[in-house]
Amino acid sequence: MASPMSKPEIETAARLLLAGELVAFPTETVYGLGADAANPAAVAKVFAAKGRPSDHPLIVHLADAGQLEAWARDIPQAASLLAAHFWPGPLTLILKRQPNVPDAVTGGQDTVGLRVPNHPLALALLRTFAETGGSGGVAAPSANRFGRISPTTAEHVRSELGEKVALVLDGGPCGVGIESTILDLSGLPEAGPRLLRPGAISPEAIAAVIGVTPQEPGSTAAPRASGTLAAHYAPSTDMKIVARDRLLDLLSAYRHSGRRCAVLAHSQPPQAGMPHAWRLLPADSAGYARELYAALRELDKARMDLIAVEAIPDTPDWAAVADRLSRAVCGAGEQDET
Ligand code: TXA
Ligand code: MG
Repeated sequence: MASPMSKPEIETAARLLLAGELVAFPTETVYGLGADAANPAAVAKVFAAKGRPSDHPLIVHLADAGQLEAWARDIPQAASLLAAHFWPGPLTLILKRQPNVPDAVTGGQDTVGLRVPNHPLALALLRTFAETGGSGGVAAPSANRFGRISPTTAEHVRSELGEKVALVLDGGPCGVGIESTILDLSGLPEAGPRLLRPGAISPEAIAAVIGVTPQEPGSTAAPRASGTLAAHYAPSTDMKIVARDRLLDLLSAYRHSGRRCAVLAHSQPPQAGMPHAWRLLPADSAGYARELYAALRELDKARMDLIAVEAIPDTPDWAAVADRLSRAVCGAGEQDET
């Protein structure tokens, strides 16, 4: 998956972080826009580059679970169990923060999001950064403009953030393709674990490790999390979810009125020689997730009047994809210039 990356390039990246610059890097989920998490001025550059409101907290990436205590306090046993089981991997834990974690990272909240990404380049960067004298924590949101589609290739990052980033490490396309599962453990033991964002690590997989099923999102009083805004991950083309048996009618209606509609599908076209773009994604949820964002970017570029998304199965393994699609549909077509 990762393209070969020379040691000097990793060292350069670590030095740039240490100097307060921004470095974009691949993770197994999406590309991150990294800054030294202990340097508020560097973290401020992340918000400026993304056009993100400053009260939205960032995830701090660590080289290994051994660094947890430097960033979090009162760590519950559930967190240690999950870290041992899923890290490195696509799970972010929200824990009570250490007092030294800058407000710029946490959005002023008393909690901090932490994860160890499962990507050789990310891990090499995090280790080298710690060894070069850095804080060991790299604050990194997804490397896209606020509200837009997360990048899953280095090219996506360059085209969207360009000169705002000192360096983009290229690790090829991301293997998971959608953002990490976010689990809030900061209310333990009084309040149970809460799932703030679904991802590749399912509530069932979490329950199998800690014996408690996290409460699903949608509940009141959720902490600020931009991935939990109704409109997010959105292309600028209008989007709609359409049942498979209604796709053909929709396509012909568009054709007859001279408008262009592309289909984002996971099953074969119902008839040969479809006149409109039929963008076929893998039929399994993991494969679909891996290619989803790149396909949305591609269809967005084609300047269609509508992206019709073939309705996906209503089963637990599709929950994270369903979440991203519904947010994309909600935000689609809005041309914010932030
Ligand atoms: O897979 C991922 O998580 C990627 C890669 C780069 O690691 N990162 C990512 O970051 O998706 P971002 O900033 O786009 O989304 C992180 C989410 C945001 O919704 C943020 O509000 C939430 O995590 N978050 C971070 N710290 C939090 C905290 N202390 N409490 C509640 N939510 C938090
Ligand atoms: Mg994001």
